[in-house]
Amino acid sequence: MDEIVAMCKRRGFIFPSSEIYGGVGSTYDYGHYGVLLKNNVKAEWWRSMLQERDDIVAIDSAIIQHPRVWEASGHLAGFTDPMVDCRTCKLRFRADHLDDAQCGRKPSKKPGEGPDCDLTEAREFNLMFETTVGPVKDSGSVAYLRPETAQGIFINFKNVLQFARVKPPFGIAQIGKSFRNEITTGNFIFRTREFEQMEMEFFVAPDEAERWHEHWMEERMRWYTELGIRADNLVLRAHDADELSHYSSATSDIEYRFPMGFSELEGIANRGDFDLRQHTEFSGEKLEYFDQQTKERYVPHVIEPAAGVDRAMLAFIVDAYDTEEVEGRQRTVLRLHPKLAPVKVAVLPLVSRDGMPERAREIFEALRLKIPSEYDEGGSIGKRYRRQDEIGTPWGVTVDGQTAEDGTVTLRDRDSLEQTRVPAAELPELLAERLAQEWTSPKPG
Ligand code: GAP
Repeated sequence: MDEIVAMCKRRGFIFPSSEIYGGVGSTYDYGHYGVLLKNNVKAEWWRSMLQERDDIVAIDSAIIQHPRVWEASGHLAGFTDPMVDCRTCKLRFRADHLDDAQCGRKPSKKPGEGPDCDLTEAREFNLMFETTVGPVKDSGSVAYLRPETAQGIFINFKNVLQFARVKPPFGIAQIGKSFRNEITTGNFIFRTREFEQMEMEFFVAPDEAERWHEHWMEERMRWYTELGIRADNLVLRAHDADELSHYSSATSDIEYRFPMGFSELEGIANRGDFDLRQHTEFSGEKLEYFDQQTKERYVPHVIEPAAGVDRAMLAFIVDAYDTEEVEGRQRTVLRLHPKLAPVKVAVLPLVSRDGMPERAREIFEALRLKIPSEYDEGGSIGKRYRRQDEIGTPWGVTVDGQTAEDGTVTLRDRDSLEQTRVPAAELPELLAERLAQEWTSPKPG
């Protein structure tokens, strides 16, 4: 993980936030390539939810919702973790994660032991961030930053039914920021207090819930593998009864082999009719479906694939990160699926003279209209290739002396390092073709 954190900073993917003020725990800012990669992850999720099917619609709900939403959802009473305080080092730990905790004062913990701390009794700590709305701070102005995007979907169930002309089985999808005052964070962007979620609530007839739960488990596993995650690094693990969230009758997690071990990447829950019934009770609005044909009235059951954008991004980076020796030199390469790569093609003049920069710039300007491209002139060609390898650029186009003679360039493949000579004029079509092809990671399983 340390190598990945260093690479992400060195190459402008992810920076610790507020660094010039000494940093603020577990908060990160995304740099240029981080933003591009994150956008690609979100675009692929939207593509799989909206473009590749016609039974899901999108929504973008507010972060601050009516406080009753969180009473109805059960978060106010039940979204807690057991917390203990240390009287010695003043740190807080999750009572159920003590084995992984480290005392801040006495880091003398032996392997397998809890922190060497003077701990208080465990008490329940609510993970929601509280804030106040409006100019006057009083008890009536308390509100919460949403801890999940899901509730913004449930409270819009009626709006969507009315205006989107959908009927079960159908889904509502959302990507947005969520906030949790996590007690223990760490492991880079795996668990942070501010993060983005990609959630979809799929509303079905009650007797079809199990079938759709199976469907979404398969679909979501497929999404990760088609985007290049090696299947050996993924498992689907069903929750034991004592792990289930208050709303869930069955949940399976897709776990990924992160550097700290297999951990949750995405949860796929069968939420039953819990949320629609709760919001019906608390709001007084009937949230149900009336089937005009069968004259049947029912509260749909909900299947929810819930993923984290940042966590997915970490999994894609971890799975892609590779080092190898090429002709006696160490090469670091991010073997990202080309669809996820922040830059698809780099255009490089071999040297900064003999008209090569001008020709390379022309090629770049034509290419960037069709495909995310970058022009790179500074430093030796080897150094520029290494930089592009580290940010995961799948293809490099080099303009050399021969280009002026016959209009051809070399096309270098990030993974195989194969270099082929192709006419510059054919690049847009050729690269579009390559981008559309299936891709599997060349890294061993
Ligand atoms: N609506 C259901 C729900 O929120 P969850 O398992 O608590 O379920 C879903 O969250 C996903 O959101 C997780 O699988 C994870 O990918 C991401 N996630 C949750 N808490 C996170 C955190 N503190 N930091 C980063 N990602 C988080």
